Amino acid sequence: MVRYPLSALSAFSAFSAFLAFSASSGDATNGKRVFEKVGCYECHGYAGQGGRDGARIAATSMPEQAFVRYLRRPFGAMPAYSTKVLPDQDVLDIYAYVKGMPAAKPASEIPLLSHLREK
Ligand code: HEC
Repeated sequence: MVRYPLSALSAFSAFSAFLAFSASSGDATNGKRVFEKVGCYECHGYAGQGGRDGARIAATSMPEQAFVRYLRRPFGAMPAYSTKVLPDQDVLDIYAYVKGMPAAKPASEIPLLSHLREK
């Protein structure tokens, strides 16, 4: 097995993250606008962090097509969004925006919470 220095590996993973991001068909800037216009934030929060009414969706691991299907036919308490309200391109743009939101930090990286893990 060929061994690469760690820095080469992390440069590679940054590069592939960039590729994955740019391969998406959505425009995150428009996604942010639509996310705020149609009210996704009302339940999922401006940072996609979720809350009393909605799930955490920041940095979602859902594939793009599953995301589109979910918005058309959600389960549970989430309202459905038809193509009239939200054309496919808008959904793809929201996906690009949500996908790029920073994921939650683990408790160990939040100073106020880090000690909780030691007990
Ligand atoms: C009225 C509140 C509400 C609004 C508005 C809303 N959602 Fe949701 N959403 C939910 C709830 C609640 C869930 C969790 C599913 C359930 O009901 O069990 C959910 C789940 C999701 C999920 C699935 C998360 C997962 O990992 O399973 C996605 C993706 C999502 N919402 C995206 C959106 C987007 C994008 C918008 C705006 C177009 C939006 N939601 C608007 C309440 C809402």
